[in-house]
Amino acid sequence: MTNIAVFASGTGSNAVNLVKSFNSGNRIHVALCLTDREDIPVIEKMRELGVETIYFPRSVWKENPQAILDVLKSHDIKVIALAGFLSFIKEEIINEYEGRILNIHPSLLPAYGGKGMHGGNVHKAVIEAGETKSGATVHLVTNDLDAGPIVVQREVEVLPDDSPESLEAKVHEVEYLIFPEAVMKTVAAFNKQTPSESNTPTPPDIPKSVDDAWAETLGIPNNVPPIPNTAQTHFSSQPNNMSPTPAGPTSYSATASSMGQRSMALQSEQMPPTYLVWSIIMTILCCTIPGIVAIIFSAKVSSKYYEGDLDGSRRASRNAEIWIIVSFVLGVLSNTLYLPLALAGLF
Ligand code: GAR
Repeated sequence: MTNIAVFASGTGSNAVNLVKSFNSGNRIHVALCLTDREDIPVIEKMRELGVETIYFPRSVWKENPQAILDVLKSHDIKVIALAGFLSFIKEEIINEYEGRILNIHPSLLPAYGGKGMHGGNVHKAVIEAGETKSGATVHLVTNDLDAGPIVVQREVEVLPDDSPESLEAKVHEVEYLIFPEAVMKTVAAFNKQTPSESNTPTPPDIPKSVDDAWAETLGIPNNVPPIPNTAQTHFSSQPNNMSPTPAGPTSYSATASSMGQRSMALQSEQMPPTYLVWSIIMTILCCTIPGIVAIIFSAKVSSKYYEGDLDGSRRASRNAEIWIIVSFVLGVLSNTLYLPLALAGLF
């Protein structure tokens, strides 16, 4: 399990989307939400979702980055997602989390980025400039505002009758797709770099079911339903009291890991079809070798998907489909050739 934090300053629809995308699985967990404002909707939303939420006044973000780092470390946070966060992130935090802080921005960066460009301001500027395309970008945070390397970017069309509000709604829709994708990519890259530190092994005292073992071998999810997140934390609105107080008896990670569930993260982008059943049918009934190739690609669909490589997953799905067709065609050809030859007594 890899813990991530979201930082938010407002409505928090992206923060909510990240929690809903990840917290019912066992790969990535939004363990913490930090805010720089006291009375914002995201605080209540995170509390309802059971995510520990802490408010730090702007003065702390500006003058005491070590206090932020201490909280991040104490929650074992590996990746940070800025979901509509409006304070500057101090150099100390950027250096500590180099290549692991993502920001979502509602335009096709580098266009419409920089000072003053956030939320509605961006959409207003795009409409006023008569653009025909806009979009959303997730990029790595560096010391230069909105200028870090782009991780995922997606376009939306700007129609002549679009208003800043309608454009914002369209951009939000693509944000809900690309932000989880970018988080998965960043977490996968981080886990590749530091496998021993970041990948928590399955506890040895929990026996795996046969289903689990096969699902893991083939790289496919089993069908264990996700466990509801039952963690509850109270947000303290006192600026000086930055400690969240646990209110619920059960913590999510304890419940999920101790039951050894294999439920996968809900993705906002659907996994492409694996065609596993068809591959197996083709292997048995038609042509074995192309059928086995199809099974291998079927397994790759889910493994690539859970690594965050959606393009790779789609490619594997397409390849599985092709090899099923090959298996079927070869199976039909060999049978139709074999039968007349057998009847003619040649075989
Ligand atoms: C999002 O559209 C995000 O791209 C933008 O703020 C909005 C927050 O919405 N971020 C910026 O403008 C950063 N410069 P949300 O609170 O509903 O997620």
